[in-house]
Amino acid sequence: MRRGAIWLTAVALLAALCSCTEPSPDTPQEVAGTSSPAASETQPALAGEVEVFSWWTAGAQARGLEALLGVFKEKYPQVNFVNSAVTSGGGTGQDLLAQRLENGQPPDSFQLHAGAEAADYIAAKQVTDITLLYEEFGLEEAFPAELRKLVTVDDKAYAIPTDVHRANVLWANVKLLQAAGLPADKIEFADIDSFLSVLAQIRERTPTVTPLAVGNTWCQVHLFETVLLADLGAAKYRGLFEGTADWNGPEVAAAIGHFAALLGYANTDRDLLDWEPAAQLLADGRAAFNIMGDWMPELLDSKGMVAGTDYLWAPAPGTLGAFDFVADSFPLAEGAPHPATAKAWLEVVASAAGQVALSKAKGSIPARSDIDLSEFSAYQQASAYSYSHDELVGSLQHGAMAGIAQVDAVGQAVAKFAATPMGAADQGTFQADLAAVFTAG
Ligand code: GAL
Repeated sequence: MRRGAIWLTAVALLAALCSCTEPSPDTPQEVAGTSSPAASETQPALAGEVEVFSWWTAGAQARGLEALLGVFKEKYPQVNFVNSAVTSGGGTGQDLLAQRLENGQPPDSFQLHAGAEAADYIAAKQVTDITLLYEEFGLEEAFPAELRKLVTVDDKAYAIPTDVHRANVLWANVKLLQAAGLPADKIEFADIDSFLSVLAQIRERTPTVTPLAVGNTWCQVHLFETVLLADLGAAKYRGLFEGTADWNGPEVAAAIGHFAALLGYANTDRDLLDWEPAAQLLADGRAAFNIMGDWMPELLDSKGMVAGTDYLWAPAPGTLGAFDFVADSFPLAEGAPHPATAKAWLEVVASAAGQVALSKAKGSIPARSDIDLSEFSAYQQASAYSYSHDELVGSLQHGAMAGIAQVDAVGQAVAKFAATPMGAADQGTFQADLAAVFTAG
Protein backbone atom coordinates (compact mmCIF):
# COMPACT_ATOMS: atom_id res chain seq x y z
CA MET A 1 0.00 0.00 0.00
CA ARG A 2 1.32 3.43 -0.88
CA ARG A 3 2.06 5.22 2.35
CA GLY A 4 0.61 8.56 1.13
CA ALA A 5 -2.72 6.94 0.56
CA ILE A 6 -3.03 5.54 4.03
CA TRP A 7 -4.69 8.46 5.76
CA LEU A 8 -7.22 8.95 2.98
CA THR A 9 -7.90 5.24 2.93
CA ALA A 10 -8.40 5.23 6.67
CA VAL A 11 -10.90 8.07 6.39
CA ALA A 12 -12.75 6.33 3.57
CA LEU A 13 -12.76 3.14 5.53
CA LEU A 14 -14.20 4.80 8.59
CA ALA A 15 -16.92 6.30 6.43
CA ALA A 16 -17.67 2.85 5.04
CA LEU A 17 -17.72 1.38 8.53
CA CYS A 18 -20.07 4.07 9.75
CA SER A 19 -22.39 3.67 6.78
CA CYS A 20 -22.82 0.01 7.59
CA THR A 21 -23.78 0.51 11.18
CA GLU A 22 -27.46 0.17 10.29
CA PRO A 23 -28.82 -1.85 11.91
CA SER A 24 -26.93 -1.27 15.10
CA PRO A 25 -24.85 -4.24 16.18
CA ASP A 26 -25.73 -6.53 19.00
CA THR A 27 -24.66 -6.03 22.52
CA PRO A 28 -21.63 -8.19 23.33
CA GLN A 29 -23.61 -10.52 25.58
CA GLU A 30 -26.06 -11.35 22.87
CA VAL A 31 -25.58 -14.79 21.40
CA ALA A 32 -25.18 -14.25 17.69
CA GLY A 33 -27.89 -15.87 15.67
CA THR A 34 -30.39 -15.83 18.50
CA SER A 35 -31.62 -12.25 18.13
CA SER A 36 -35.37 -12.02 18.08
CA PRO A 37 -36.97 -12.80 14.71
CA ALA A 38 -38.93 -9.58 14.86
CA ALA A 39 -35.74 -7.54 15.08
CA SER A 40 -33.93 -9.42 12.33
CA GLU A 41 -36.96 -9.25 10.02
CA THR A 42 -36.85 -5.49 10.07
CA GLN A 43 -33.13 -5.32 9.33
CA PRO A 44 -31.85 -5.07 5.79
CA ALA A 45 -29.65 -8.12 5.36
CA LEU A 46 -25.98 -7.50 4.90
CA ALA A 47 -24.76 -9.13 1.70
CA GLY A 48 -21.56 -9.40 -0.30
CA GLU A 49 -18.45 -11.29 0.64
CA VAL A 50 -15.73 -11.26 3.24
CA GLU A 51 -12.34 -12.87 2.83
CA VAL A 52 -10.52 -14.12 5.90
CA PHE A 53 -7.01 -15.55 6.01
CA SER A 54 -5.81 -18.00 8.63
CA TRP A 55 -3.79 -21.18 8.88
CA TRP A 56 -6.65 -23.14 10.38
CA THR A 57 -7.00 -25.76 7.69
CA ALA A 58 -7.03 -29.08 9.51
CA GLY A 59 -8.26 -30.90 12.58
CA ALA A 60 -9.40 -28.93 15.58
CA GLN A 61 -8.38 -25.67 14.03
CA ALA A 62 -10.48 -26.17 10.92
CA ARG A 63 -13.37 -27.31 13.07
CA GLY A 64 -12.95 -24.24 15.25
CA LEU A 65 -13.08 -21.97 12.24
CA GLU A 66 -16.09 -23.87 10.95
CA ALA A 67 -17.87 -23.46 14.27
CA LEU A 68 -17.13 -19.74 14.30
CA LEU A 69 -18.33 -19.57 10.74
CA GLY A 70 -21.55 -21.29 11.80
CA VAL A 71 -22.23 -18.38 14.15
CA PHE A 72 -21.36 -15.93 11.39
CA LYS A 73 -23.60 -17.66 8.85
CA GLU A 74 -26.54 -17.69 11.20
CA LYS A 75 -26.21 -14.00 11.74
CA TYR A 76 -25.21 -12.98 8.25
CA PRO A 77 -26.64 -15.67 5.98
CA GLN A 78 -26.26 -13.58 2.86
CA VAL A 79 -22.58 -12.88 3.24
CA ASN A 80 -20.36 -15.21 1.28
CA PHE A 81 -17.46 -16.21 3.51
CA VAL A 82 -14.30 -16.67 1.48
CA ASN A 83 -12.11 -18.93 3.55
CA SER A 84 -8.52 -18.23 2.52
CA ALA A 85 -6.95 -20.51 5.08
CA VAL A 86 -3.59 -21.92 3.99
CA THR A 87 -1.88 -25.02 5.25
CA SER A 88 0.84 -23.94 7.58
CA GLY A 89 1.79 -24.73 11.10
CA GLY A 90 1.95 -21.19 12.28
CA GLY A 91 5.15 -20.32 10.43
CA THR A 92 4.90 -20.14 6.67
CA GLY A 93 1.34 -18.84 6.83
CA GLN A 94 2.69 -15.43 7.66
CA ASP A 95 5.00 -15.51 4.63
CA LEU A 96 2.11 -16.06 2.26
CA LEU A 97 0.11 -13.37 3.98
CA ALA A 98 3.07 -10.98 3.85
CA GLN A 99 3.25 -11.33 0.06
CA ARG A 100 -0.39 -10.38 -0.30
CA LEU A 101 -0.09 -7.45 2.07
CA GLU A 102 3.03 -6.20 0.32
CA ASN A 103 1.34 -6.52 -3.06
CA GLY A 104 -1.58 -4.40 -1.82
CA GLN A 105 -4.00 -7.35 -2.09
CA PRO A 106 -5.05 -7.88 1.50
CA PRO A 107 -7.80 -10.20 2.61
CA ASP A 108 -10.41 -8.37 4.67
CA SER A 109 -9.16 -9.82 7.90
CA PHE A 110 -6.44 -12.26 8.90
CA GLN A 111 -5.11 -14.32 11.79
CA LEU A 112 -2.37 -12.62 13.74
CA HIS A 113 -0.85 -13.03 17.16
CA ALA A 114 -1.29 -10.44 19.88
CA GLY A 115 2.04 -8.97 20.96
CA ALA A 116 5.15 -8.25 18.92
CA GLU A 117 3.64 -9.72 15.77
CA ALA A 118 0.60 -7.44 16.00
CA ALA A 119 2.99 -4.52 16.58
CA ASP A 120 4.72 -5.38 13.30
CA TYR A 121 1.49 -5.16 11.32
CA ILE A 122 0.57 -1.95 13.09
CA ALA A 123 3.97 -0.38 12.40
CA ALA A 124 3.72 -1.44 8.75
CA LYS A 125 0.26 0.16 8.60
CA GLN A 126 -1.23 -3.08 7.34
CA VAL A 127 -4.04 -3.05 9.90
CA THR A 128 -6.58 -0.38 10.72
CA ASP A 129 -7.38 1.42 13.94
CA ILE A 130 -10.60 -0.23 15.15
CA THR A 131 -10.94 1.54 18.49
CA LEU A 132 -14.38 2.73 17.42
CA LEU A 133 -15.49 -0.83 16.86
CA TYR A 134 -14.45 -1.69 20.42
CA GLU A 135 -16.79 1.05 21.58
CA GLU A 136 -19.54 0.02 19.22
CA PHE A 137 -19.35 -3.67 20.12
CA GLY A 138 -19.13 -2.86 23.84
CA LEU A 139 -15.71 -4.45 24.22
CA GLU A 140 -14.22 -1.97 26.67
CA GLU A 141 -14.18 -4.51 29.51
CA ALA A 142 -14.37 -7.70 27.48
CA PHE A 143 -10.69 -8.66 27.45
CA PRO A 144 -8.08 -8.78 30.19
CA ALA A 145 -6.34 -5.40 30.12
CA GLU A 146 -2.97 -7.08 29.52
CA LEU A 147 -4.29 -8.79 26.42
CA ARG A 148 -5.87 -5.68 25.02
CA LYS A 149 -2.54 -3.91 25.45
CA LEU A 150 -0.99 -6.45 23.08
CA VAL A 151 -3.15 -5.30 20.18
CA THR A 152 -3.01 -1.62 21.11
CA VAL A 153 -0.57 1.13 20.19
CA ASP A 154 -0.93 4.72 21.37
CA ASP A 155 -4.31 3.87 22.91
CA LYS A 156 -5.61 2.68 19.57
CA ALA A 157 -6.82 -0.90 19.23
CA TYR A 158 -5.94 -2.73 16.03
CA ALA A 159 -7.25 -6.28 16.41
CA ILE A 160 -9.80 -8.37 18.28
CA PRO A 161 -8.26 -11.05 20.53
CA THR A 162 -10.05 -14.28 19.76
CA ASP A 163 -8.59 -17.21 21.65
CA VAL A 164 -5.72 -18.04 23.96
CA HIS A 165 -3.61 -21.17 23.74
CA ARG A 166 -0.88 -22.41 26.03
CA ALA A 167 2.40 -23.26 24.31
CA ASN A 168 4.28 -24.91 27.18
CA VAL A 169 2.50 -28.22 27.43
CA LEU A 170 3.97 -31.73 27.63
CA TRP A 171 1.83 -34.58 26.30
CA ALA A 172 2.43 -38.25 26.99
CA ASN A 173 1.17 -41.60 25.76
CA VAL A 174 0.24 -43.57 28.89
CA LYS A 175 0.69 -47.05 27.37
CA LEU A 176 4.22 -46.25 26.32
CA LEU A 177 5.11 -44.95 29.77
CA GLN A 178 3.76 -48.18 31.22
CA ALA A 179 5.65 -50.23 28.64
CA ALA A 180 8.85 -48.56 29.82
CA GLY A 181 7.95 -49.28 33.44
CA LEU A 182 7.56 -45.59 34.25
CA PRO A 183 4.97 -44.00 36.52
CA ALA A 184 2.00 -43.32 34.28
CA ASP A 185 -0.17 -41.14 36.43
CA LYS A 186 1.75 -37.86 36.54
CA ILE A 187 4.25 -36.29 34.18
CA GLU A 188 5.38 -33.16 35.96
CA PHE A 189 9.11 -32.59 35.65
CA ALA A 190 10.81 -29.99 37.80
CA ASP A 191 13.57 -29.44 35.24
CA ILE A 192 14.87 -30.54 31.87
CA ASP A 193 17.48 -32.88 33.34
CA SER A 194 14.89 -35.02 35.10
CA PHE A 195 12.92 -35.16 31.84
CA LEU A 196 16.04 -36.17 29.92
CA SER A 197 16.68 -39.03 32.28
CA VAL A 198 13.16 -40.37 31.65
CA LEU A 199 13.71 -40.07 27.89
CA ALA A 200 16.92 -42.08 28.33
CA GLN A 201 15.03 -44.78 30.22
CA ILE A 202 12.42 -45.00 27.48
CA ARG A 203 15.12 -45.41 24.87
CA GLU A 204 16.86 -48.08 26.88
CA ARG A 205 13.80 -50.07 27.88
CA THR A 206 11.70 -49.71 24.72
CA PRO A 207 14.18 -49.07 21.90
CA THR A 208 11.57 -49.07 19.13
CA VAL A 209 9.73 -46.15 20.73
CA THR A 210 10.67 -42.56 19.89
CA PRO A 211 11.03 -40.91 23.30
CA LEU A 212 10.11 -37.42 22.09
CA ALA A 213 8.05 -36.63 18.98
CA VAL A 214 9.24 -33.43 17.32
CA GLY A 215 8.04 -31.71 14.14
CA ASN A 216 9.66 -29.35 11.66
CA THR A 217 11.48 -26.09 12.26
CA TRP A 218 8.63 -24.10 13.76
CA CYS A 219 7.90 -26.99 16.12
CA GLN A 220 11.58 -27.03 17.06
CA VAL A 221 11.50 -23.31 17.83
CA HIS A 222 8.39 -23.99 19.89
CA LEU A 223 10.26 -26.71 21.80
CA PHE A 224 13.26 -24.46 22.24
CA GLU A 225 11.21 -21.63 23.72
CA THR A 226 9.87 -23.97 26.40
CA VAL A 227 13.45 -24.99 27.20
CA LEU A 228 14.48 -21.33 27.44
CA LEU A 229 11.57 -20.76 29.79
CA ALA A 230 12.62 -23.76 31.88
CA ASP A 231 16.25 -22.73 32.14
CA LEU A 232 15.82 -18.99 32.54
CA GLY A 233 12.56 -18.78 34.48
CA ALA A 234 9.72 -16.47 33.51
CA ALA A 235 11.35 -13.13 34.35
CA LYS A 236 14.60 -13.74 32.50
CA TYR A 237 12.79 -15.39 29.60
CA ARG A 238 10.81 -12.17 29.18
CA GLY A 239 14.02 -10.24 29.67
CA LEU A 240 15.54 -11.89 26.61
CA PHE A 241 13.01 -10.05 24.48
CA GLU A 242 12.89 -6.89 26.52
CA GLY A 243 16.64 -6.38 26.48
CA THR A 244 17.22 -7.07 30.18
CA ALA A 245 18.56 -10.63 29.91
CA ASP A 246 21.59 -11.72 27.95
CA TRP A 247 21.33 -14.02 24.95
CA ASN A 248 25.06 -14.60 25.34
CA GLY A 249 24.70 -15.63 28.99
CA PRO A 250 25.21 -19.02 30.65
CA GLU A 251 21.49 -19.81 31.04
CA VAL A 252 20.93 -19.57 27.30
CA ALA A 253 24.03 -21.73 26.79
CA ALA A 254 22.53 -24.29 29.18
CA ALA A 255 19.19 -24.15 27.35
CA ILE A 256 20.96 -24.78 24.05
CA GLY A 257 22.73 -27.80 25.54
CA HIS A 258 19.38 -29.11 26.80
CA PHE A 259 17.74 -28.47 23.46
CA ALA A 260 20.47 -30.44 21.67
CA ALA A 261 20.06 -33.28 24.15
CA LEU A 262 16.29 -33.32 23.65
CA LEU A 263 16.67 -33.44 19.87
CA GLY A 264 18.88 -36.47 20.43
CA TYR A 265 15.75 -38.32 21.61
CA ALA A 266 13.55 -37.13 18.75
CA ASN A 267 12.42 -38.79 15.54
CA THR A 268 15.05 -38.29 12.85
CA ASP A 269 12.44 -37.39 10.20
CA ARG A 270 11.34 -34.40 12.26
CA ASP A 271 12.08 -31.84 9.55
CA LEU A 272 9.52 -33.51 7.30
CA LEU A 273 6.65 -33.40 9.77
CA ASP A 274 4.39 -30.54 10.69
CA TRP A 275 2.96 -30.58 14.22
CA GLU A 276 0.06 -32.86 13.35
CA PRO A 277 2.02 -35.79 11.90
CA ALA A 278 4.45 -35.36 14.80
CA ALA A 279 1.55 -35.52 17.25
CA GLN A 280 0.27 -38.49 15.32
CA LEU A 281 3.40 -40.42 16.38
CA LEU A 282 2.21 -40.07 19.95
CA ALA A 283 -1.39 -40.93 19.05
CA ASP A 284 -0.24 -44.03 17.14
CA GLY A 285 1.81 -45.30 20.06
CA ARG A 286 5.13 -44.69 18.33
CA ALA A 287 6.34 -41.77 20.46
CA ALA A 288 6.05 -41.36 24.22
CA PHE A 289 6.13 -37.56 24.62
CA ASN A 290 5.52 -34.40 22.62
CA ILE A 291 5.86 -30.77 23.64
CA MET A 292 3.29 -28.77 21.73
CA GLY A 293 0.63 -26.13 22.24
CA ASP A 294 -2.77 -27.07 23.50
CA TRP A 295 -4.25 -27.34 20.04
CA MET A 296 -3.26 -31.02 20.67
CA PRO A 297 -6.08 -32.55 22.74
CA GLU A 298 -8.68 -32.42 20.03
CA LEU A 299 -6.36 -34.35 17.70
CA LEU A 300 -5.73 -36.99 20.35
CA ASP A 301 -9.41 -37.15 21.26
CA SER A 302 -10.34 -37.59 17.61
CA LYS A 303 -8.11 -40.68 17.53
CA GLY A 304 -10.19 -42.17 20.33
CA MET A 305 -7.70 -41.38 23.08
CA VAL A 306 -9.10 -40.36 26.43
CA ALA A 307 -7.47 -37.60 28.45
CA GLY A 308 -6.18 -38.88 31.76
CA THR A 309 -6.46 -42.51 30.63
CA ASP A 310 -4.67 -42.77 27.29
CA TYR A 311 -2.78 -39.52 27.37
CA LEU A 312 -1.54 -37.16 30.02
CA TRP A 313 -0.57 -33.53 29.95
CA ALA A 314 1.40 -31.24 32.23
CA PRO A 315 3.26 -27.96 31.93
CA ALA A 316 6.39 -28.53 29.84
CA PRO A 317 9.36 -29.74 31.92
CA GLY A 318 10.78 -27.05 34.15
CA THR A 319 7.94 -24.60 33.48
CA LEU A 320 5.49 -25.36 36.29
CA GLY A 321 3.75 -22.17 37.33
CA ALA A 322 4.34 -20.38 34.01
CA PHE A 323 1.78 -19.99 31.26
CA ASP A 324 3.39 -19.40 27.86
CA PHE A 325 0.53 -17.85 25.93
CA VAL A 326 -0.39 -17.68 22.24
CA ALA A 327 -3.23 -15.27 21.48
CA ASP A 328 -4.89 -15.39 18.08
CA SER A 329 -6.51 -12.14 17.01
CA PHE A 330 -8.19 -10.70 13.93
CA PRO A 331 -7.77 -7.17 12.57
CA LEU A 332 -9.42 -5.17 9.84
CA ALA A 333 -6.81 -5.13 7.09
CA GLU A 334 -5.73 -1.74 5.83
CA GLY A 335 -7.30 -1.44 2.39
CA ALA A 336 -9.76 -4.25 3.12
CA PRO A 337 -11.83 -4.68 -0.03
CA HIS A 338 -15.06 -5.33 1.90
CA PRO A 339 -15.02 -3.20 5.05
CA ALA A 340 -18.72 -3.56 5.84
CA THR A 341 -18.73 -7.34 5.82
CA ALA A 342 -15.32 -7.33 7.52
CA LYS A 343 -16.88 -5.38 10.32
CA ALA A 344 -19.60 -8.01 10.60
CA TRP A 345 -16.88 -10.68 10.78
CA LEU A 346 -15.10 -8.81 13.57
CA GLU A 347 -18.36 -8.38 15.42
CA VAL A 348 -18.87 -12.16 15.41
CA VAL A 349 -15.21 -12.84 16.23
CA ALA A 350 -15.56 -10.54 19.24
CA SER A 351 -18.91 -11.91 20.37
CA ALA A 352 -19.29 -14.33 23.25
CA ALA A 353 -21.10 -16.78 20.95
CA GLY A 354 -18.33 -16.66 18.36
CA GLN A 355 -15.58 -17.10 20.92
CA VAL A 356 -17.34 -20.00 22.63
CA ALA A 357 -17.92 -21.78 19.31
CA LEU A 358 -14.32 -21.32 18.17
CA SER A 359 -12.60 -22.29 21.40
CA LYS A 360 -14.81 -25.24 22.24
CA ALA A 361 -13.88 -26.87 18.98
CA LYS A 362 -10.29 -25.72 18.89
CA GLY A 363 -9.16 -26.46 22.43
CA SER A 364 -8.27 -22.89 23.30
CA ILE A 365 -9.86 -20.67 25.90
CA PRO A 366 -11.85 -17.65 24.79
CA ALA A 367 -9.97 -14.36 24.86
CA ARG A 368 -12.96 -12.69 26.50
CA SER A 369 -12.86 -12.86 30.26
CA ASP A 370 -16.65 -12.79 30.76
CA ILE A 371 -17.42 -16.27 29.45
CA ASP A 372 -18.68 -19.12 31.62
CA LEU A 373 -16.37 -22.06 30.98
CA SER A 374 -18.34 -24.70 32.88
CA GLU A 375 -19.26 -26.39 29.61
CA PHE A 376 -15.66 -26.52 28.45
CA SER A 377 -13.39 -29.56 28.80
CA ALA A 378 -11.53 -30.29 32.01
CA TYR A 379 -8.31 -29.42 30.20
CA GLN A 380 -9.67 -26.05 29.06
CA GLN A 381 -10.90 -25.23 32.54
CA ALA A 382 -7.51 -26.09 33.98
CA SER A 383 -5.84 -24.00 31.30
CA ALA A 384 -8.10 -21.03 32.06
CA TYR A 385 -7.22 -21.36 35.73
CA SER A 386 -3.50 -21.35 34.95
CA TYR A 387 -3.94 -18.43 32.58
CA SER A 388 -5.35 -16.33 35.37
CA HIS A 389 -3.10 -17.61 38.18
CA ASP A 390 0.27 -18.53 36.68
CA GLU A 391 3.10 -16.27 35.68
CA LEU A 392 2.32 -15.16 32.12
CA VAL A 393 4.94 -15.12 29.42
CA GLY A 394 4.40 -14.73 25.70
CA SER A 395 5.34 -17.24 23.05
CA LEU A 396 8.44 -16.66 20.93
CA GLN A 397 7.40 -18.85 17.99
CA HIS A 398 3.81 -17.65 18.08
CA GLY A 399 4.55 -13.99 17.84
CA ALA A 400 3.87 -12.69 21.32
CA MET A 401 7.46 -11.78 22.23
CA ALA A 402 9.17 -11.53 18.86
CA GLY A 403 8.15 -9.93 15.59
CA ILE A 404 7.75 -11.72 12.29
CA ALA A 405 11.29 -11.11 11.00
CA GLN A 406 12.80 -12.18 14.33
CA VAL A 407 10.77 -15.38 14.47
CA ASP A 408 11.89 -16.12 10.90
CA ALA A 409 15.51 -15.48 11.82
CA VAL A 410 15.26 -17.69 14.92
CA GLY A 411 13.77 -20.40 12.71
CA GLN A 412 16.74 -20.13 10.37
CA ALA A 413 19.19 -20.31 13.27
CA VAL A 414 17.42 -23.36 14.69
CA ALA A 415 17.35 -25.09 11.29
CA LYS A 416 21.04 -24.35 10.78
CA PHE A 417 21.89 -25.67 14.25
CA ALA A 418 19.72 -28.78 14.01
CA ALA A 419 21.46 -29.69 10.74
CA THR A 420 24.84 -29.83 12.49
CA PRO A 421 26.08 -32.50 14.93
CA MET A 422 25.03 -29.97 17.59
CA GLY A 423 28.34 -30.31 19.44
CA ALA A 424 29.91 -27.62 21.61
CA ALA A 425 31.16 -25.51 18.71
CA ASP A 426 27.79 -25.67 16.95
CA GLN A 427 26.10 -24.70 20.20
CA GLY A 428 28.34 -21.65 20.44
CA THR A 429 27.52 -20.66 16.87
CA PHE A 430 23.82 -21.13 17.53
CA GLN A 431 24.00 -18.91 20.59
CA ALA A 432 25.83 -16.22 18.65
CA ASP A 433 23.22 -16.46 15.87
CA LEU A 434 20.42 -16.04 18.37
CA ALA A 435 22.11 -13.12 20.07
CA ALA A 436 22.55 -11.47 16.67
CA VAL A 437 18.80 -11.78 15.97
CA PHE A 438 17.89 -9.90 19.11
CA THR A 439 20.67 -7.37 19.22
CA ALA A 440 20.71 -6.47 15.53
CA GLY A 441 19.60 -2.98 14.60
C1 GAL B 1 -0.51 -20.99 16.30
C2 GAL B 1 -1.91 -20.46 16.38
C3 GAL B 1 -2.82 -21.51 16.86
C4 GAL B 1 -2.64 -22.74 16.02
C5 GAL B 1 -1.18 -23.14 15.97
C6 GAL B 1 -0.87 -24.41 15.21
O1 GAL B 1 0.33 -20.03 15.79
O2 GAL B 1 -1.95 -19.37 17.23
O3 GAL B 1 -4.13 -21.05 16.82
O4 GAL B 1 -3.09 -22.43 14.74
O5 GAL B 1 -0.43 -22.11 15.46
O6 GAL B 1 -1.09 -24.30 13.85
